[in-house]
Amino acid sequence: MNHPVIEVRLAGPADAEECALVYDAALAAAFPDEPATSRDRAAYFRACAGEEQRVCLLDRVIIGFVSVYWNENFIHSLYILPAQQKRGAGRALLAAIQALDRGPLELKVDEVNVSARAFYARLGWREVGEGVGDRGRWLRLRWDGFPAGLQHG
Ligand SMILES: CC(C)(COP(=O)(O)OP(=O)(O)OC[C@H]1O[C@@H](n2cnc3c(N)ncnc32)[C@H](O)[C@@H]1OP(=O)(O)O)[C@@H](O)C(=O)NCCC(=O)NCCS
Repeated sequence: MNHPVIEVRLAGPADAEECALVYDAALAAAFPDEPATSRDRAAYFRACAGEEQRVCLLDRVIIGFVSVYWNENFIHSLYILPAQQKRGAGRALLAAIQALDRGPLELKVDEVNVSARAFYARLGWREVGEGVGDRGRWLRLRWDGFPAGLQHG
């Protein structure tokens, strides 16, 4: 499939308000029964405090972001605007983090989030753990990093 050209760059403080809107819209679509306070501006700032973020843009408008807690090589948030999903943006953000080549990465996904699970499976992430949280069972997924000595492009 032909995807639009998506730009990925490091996020700065000026991007935060737009990212908060993405966070709200993506979570509202994924979990419509949850209270709006669980995904509002304050929730966004709590979720991403102290993390490094990258944004992806289409026609210079932010359509998604990824937030990484590097102390644990943990991808804490990955959200794309609902209208822009399945056009390569999530893949582009993950690829930008992977290309930093800082070793294996992990993340958690809710078991009920079948769409995100299909996305990660498609991109080769494998299940390495599980637990139980506010949304029930979650799965811990891992990407093993680039094989030692191999160049990546
Ligand atoms: C999950 C999410 C980040 C994926 O981003 P995206 O931009 O929609 O995904 P992409 O278009 O980059 O998809 C990459 C690949 O995964 C596949 N994929 C994506 N969603 C899929 C789905 N629901 N079912 C099957 N395959 C899927 C795509 O087809 C694509 O494969 P291809 O390149 O071979 O065609 C995005 O849908 C999202 O923000 N969801 C809501 C929030 C969320 O659940 N975040 C993750 C929390 S852990």
